[in-house]
Amino acid sequence: MELDPSIAALEHRLGMDSFRRRLRVEHALQGAVHRFSTNPKSNLAKLLMRSRLLHQAMRLVGLYQIGYRQFLYPRIVTRDVPLAGLPAAMEGVTILQLSDLHLDLDPGLGAILAPLLDGLQYDLAVITGDFRNLLVGPAEPAIAATANLLRHLRGPVYAVAGNHDSLGMIPPLEAAGARFLLNEHVVWSRGNARLVLAGVDDAVYHGTHDLDRAFAGAPNDAPRVLFSHSPAIYREATRHQVDLLLAGHTHGGQICLPGGHIVISGLRCPRRYLRGAWTYEGMQGYTSAGTGASGVPLRFNCPAEVTLHRLVRG
Ligand SMILES: [Fe+2]
Repeated sequence: MELDPSIAALEHRLGMDSFRRRLRVEHALQGAVHRFSTNPKSNLAKLLMRSRLLHQAMRLVGLYQIGYRQFLYPRIVTRDVPLAGLPAAMEGVTILQLSDLHLDLDPGLGAILAPLLDGLQYDLAVITGDFRNLLVGPAEPAIAATANLLRHLRGPVYAVAGNHDSLGMIPPLEAAGARFLLNEHVVWSRGNARLVLAGVDDAVYHGTHDLDRAFAGAPNDAPRVLFSHSPAIYREATRHQVDLLLAGHTHGGQICLPGGHIVISGLRCPRRYLRGAWTYEGMQGYTSAGTGASGVPLRFNCPAEVTLHRLVRG
């Protein structure tokens, strides 16, 4: 099949092996979801049926509105990130992180986020993947809603793709102002001080994250920040001298037991990496609980978040 030239042009950025692997996995996912969703006896069909029944039951007992409010009003998390070796000129540099927007799930979220983002102060922004609600299918509603939201972010805005995102979504999102880091890095400067900002492709379903490629040619004397949809690459990140890893994917559990106890995270990973701040062998890490939600526009005991990471000298 002939590839759209704008998609084919991503091969030299992602790397040939990762590019081909991603196309194969995207194709396989489409086939699998189609087979499961058209077979009424499949696990997916049963899951969808149970989810619809759960919806109805929650509406009846008034729980739906409670969960919907928790989904719709993300909290702003502001945190200091102490980094050894941070140049004085980088003191206070603030990274805005949005993650797992899935904006096509519910039009209400974009409308709430726009004015909230207008009022924030930061130096650069990153969206750590998952722009679309479903794993496959039309991406246009997610692209249009994200493009609207990007008008409320001040540049530069970086992004990485998540397990819900396809290569075909990247050219229109880049045209709308998000610069994807496809196993790539950029050097961000303030005065004479430099910061390496690297991003890797999705490690969750596609396995197309390539840290060697992302850091190839990056200066060794500047702090390194890595953006990844999945936090589960933390061991590989330390092998590339990463100082700060920003990730998402887990939604912090999205629907949690009282006390925030995570029931489902969608990731095989020790519990401490599933939500919030963590460290591993001296590397700082943060897993966003997600700005949006997927599947259902509901959250329980797990607030959505917009995160401001303020770098300070450690
Ligand atoms: Fe997600």
